[in-house]
Amino acid sequence: MHQPTRLVVLVSGSGTNLQALLDACADPSYGARVVAVGADREDIEGLARAERAGIPTFVRQVSDFETREGWDASLTTVVERFEPDLVVSAGFMKLLSTEFLDRFLTLNTHPALCPAFPGMHGPRDALEHGVKVTGATLFVVDAGVDTGPIVAQVPVVVAEDDDVASLHERIKTAERAMLVDAVGRIAREGIAVEGRRVRIGAAAR
Ligand code: GRF
Repeated sequence: MHQPTRLVVLVSGSGTNLQALLDACADPSYGARVVAVGADREDIEGLARAERAGIPTFVRQVSDFETREGWDASLTTVVERFEPDLVVSAGFMKLLSTEFLDRFLTLNTHPALCPAFPGMHGPRDALEHGVKVTGATLFVVDAGVDTGPIVAQVPVVVAEDDDVASLHERIKTAERAMLVDAVGRIAREGIAVEGRRVRIGAAAR
């Protein structure tokens, strides 16, 4: 059997996506393990989840650095130390530098069906637009905001009485399942990114 795929997960908040990955990684047949969890702020549930699981953590807060470039460089250095095969940005609320993205294959989850409703307010924007179906997208991070090649998507039907919180909660449930499924398949079968087309599977090694 292959060595498990080494994941570094980046979080900024509650970390339920991280928890789903931690739970999946508890089964050796999943094919991946979380080797470190990083955050851009202290005192968040995402870090507490990692600590409870005995996973090393690190925090790089932008305000602790004189320049954004200094923060970018420090984040790259600390992530490098854990030698990840894959970085998963799971609710991480910072854009990553091109140096970081050139160094690490990085996936991000977005709570909307890209290319619709990019940015910080995917569920709110979908609700305000009146769409009947929204969802979540897993994509390879590129220099844009939620613009990268799409790895997986899952649809979520908008209910008539949804508010932003209820819609986002249902999206998050679907998002976690999508993330766990796709990361596991990538770990076990490989991933190939050719332009905008992403393939998971035997031919993709
Ligand atoms: C997810 O919906 C993610 O797509 C969005 O923020 C949420 C993070 O949730 N960017 P959690 O921290 O994993 O619970």
